[in-house]
Amino acid sequence: MRAVVTGAAGFIGSTLTDLLLAEGHEVVGVDNFDDYYSGKMRFLSRHLENKDFKLLETDILDLDALRQSFEDADVVFHLAAQAGVRISVKDPLRSHHANTTGTLNVLLAARDEGVRRVVSSSSSSVYGNAVRLPAREEDPTVPISPYAASKLAAEQYCRLFYELYGLQSVSLRYFTVYGPRQRPDMAIRIFTDRALDGLRPQIFGDGEQTRDFTFVSDVVDAIRRCADCPDPKGGALNICSGSTVSVNQVVSSILKAVGREDLEPEHLPSQPGDVDHTWGDSGKARELLGWQPKIMMDEGLGRFVDWYRTVGKV
Ligand SMILES: NC(=O)c1ccc[n+]([C@@H]2O[C@H](COP(=O)([O-])OP(=O)(O)OC[C@H]3O[C@@H](n4cnc5c(N)ncnc54)[C@H](O)[C@@H]3O)[C@@H](O)[C@H]2O)c1
Repeated sequence: MRAVVTGAAGFIGSTLTDLLLAEGHEVVGVDNFDDYYSGKMRFLSRHLENKDFKLLETDILDLDALRQSFEDADVVFHLAAQAGVRISVKDPLRSHHANTTGTLNVLLAARDEGVRRVVSSSSSSVYGNAVRLPAREEDPTVPISPYAASKLAAEQYCRLFYELYGLQSVSLRYFTVYGPRQRPDMAIRIFTDRALDGLRPQIFGDGEQTRDFTFVSDVVDAIRRCADCPDPKGGALNICSGSTVSVNQVVSSILKAVGREDLEPEHLPSQPGDVDHTWGDSGKARELLGWQPKIMMDEGLGRFVDWYRTVGKV
């Protein structure tokens, strides 16, 4: 397969790129190396000599450049985005441009270049404070942050491009992804970083909010399966572990893993845009993709902390 990965330098995109190249596929990586966080090139540098890999420093907001990068592609795995709820509350236009206009561009370029399928990246945040837990794809979507609204609009464009132009697409609703290469703005990484420096963990709110944490290799496995599964018809799929853990529990596991159980967590005010609980039902993904998560929290956290100690914290 000839695949394009947008956001190829990022946390999930670079992990997906590793998998696709290991399977022998041709990969065109598209990334603008935005300034949200630095150090991304190191995830891709070992592939730069690989004849099956081409890296294009391209902004998904540049439609002409995107069309060129999609030439002869079978599948586009679309991960480029302005990720993160907090930055979207500060700067909603930034999230809107990258996530909604960016996805619209990806769909236009894919349609025009005859791409067979687009696998797009959505988020559990589209549910807002979900009306039932675990959330199912058909449940109401009521975003409470600009990030979630931008992702929901992108989902609607995916559906619409299937209905209007017959472009096969799917929107994957990832639930808090963690693991090696995790973004520096994400909670698990921040807690680990502070604990290794002997600093108290800072928890927003009382820490009783819960998250369905999903390990990155499971997420990438689901994304990869979307290239060959039956036509998803522009729909959405939950990609989640199917279990929940409170933030207090995660902090306590991290402190144990780094041997700093003496550090007392500090509680800060809750952050606007953050939902109280996430928990997903992945039955639809299991049915369509034959996928199920394999890595549970204890193992995944251990793998993350090992990576962070040896490679991540440089
Ligand atoms: N990590 C999670 O927990 C999580 C949860 C739900 C959804 N998602 C979604 O998954 C995708 C990947 O997330 P991630 O955590 O790997 O984020 P990331 O920030 O590590 O990766 C995103 C990549 O996109 C690139 N990018 C940003 N704007 C771009 C633009 N205009 N043109 C080209 N490239 C651009 C960035 O440089 C970065 O390399 C995103 O769509 C994100 O919204 C992530």
